[in-house]
Amino acid sequence: DWTPGAFVDMTVADLKEKIGDDKVVLGLSGGVDSSVAAILLHKAIGKNLHCIFVNNGLLRKDEYDQVLHQYKDLGLNVKGVDATARFMDALAGIEDPELKRKAIGRVFIEVFDDEATSIENVTYLAQGTIYPDVIESISVNGPSATIKSHHNVGGLPDFMKLKIVEPLRMLFKDEVRRVGKEMDMDPNILGRHPFPGPGLAIRILGAIDQGKVRLLQEADAIFIANLKKWELYDKVWQAGAILLPVNSVGVMGDERTYEKCVALRAVESTDGMTADWVDLPYKFLQDTSNEIINKVKGVNRVVYDISSKPPATIEWE
Ligand code: XMP
Repeated sequence: DWTPGAFVDMTVADLKEKIGDDKVVLGLSGGVDSSVAAILLHKAIGKNLHCIFVNNGLLRKDEYDQVLHQYKDLGLNVKGVDATARFMDALAGIEDPELKRKAIGRVFIEVFDDEATSIENVTYLAQGTIYPDVIESISVNGPSATIKSHHNVGGLPDFMKLKIVEPLRMLFKDEVRRVGKEMDMDPNILGRHPFPGPGLAIRILGAIDQGKVRLLQEADAIFIANLKKWELYDKVWQAGAILLPVNSVGVMGDERTYEKCVALRAVESTDGMTADWVDLPYKFLQDTSNEIINKVKGVNRVVYDISSKPPATIEWE
């Protein structure tokens, strides 16, 4: 029978033997998979694991700083790279969702490649690939997905020539969480909702700029904080706010307003392939809507997405 304890012991021993005194580079995304992979490798090879955490400027509010600190507290040898400006430049004026993904994937690879190749004598690239990624060759979790889907664009970056190590490739998501728990990892890391590699870029419909990112970060942070406050966060598979490319009329005092609309999305799912919208309490929606409209400047309307997948997708882009 599979047990997380036996898995940890066996995997750490295997990694030690396989890697020896070599160096490994790993891209952290803040998600469950890359975090658990990092802790396993850290147990096996300690400071010879070099982690890179890239800020693409499209993460949730404060997430870059919080997650980076969390990783440091775990004792990981992690370098944070704030590449917000590079990503924003590359995204300027792009409206098409697939072109956004391509631009983000390309810049991520450039940034990661610069960092990875600046570490001397690296021989391995570690990834948090899990079994469903292996089967479907898709991932819902950041860097590994980005690397996989873009590695054949414009020749192989240097880091792609490294040997690959994927300690989680035989595990399902729930097993990854159990392995993390076995290693006493923070429940806040293990319970984190899936978040797409392109981040808020595919939740801002149309062209992106830093002002829109900031606005959406504020609305999203209120939504997520309220889900936690109402103890709904762990009952939802994935949730987030979407910034719509429309203005609508509202009133504030005696003034007519003409401002942005934010959609809220919360779904139940097991693998992201199909999903149902979550029947959140009306009082929760009411409070959250009021709070967003009162606190987030530039928003005068909030709607709740009641579409299932299929035919709608989870993300709006
Ligand atoms: P959709 O919108 O296709 O999303 O129903 C299914 C799951 O995949 C995530 N997603 C992505 N993850 N890069 C990623 O790493 C992407 O480009 C991407 N697009 C969607 C989405 O968040 C959901 O969990």
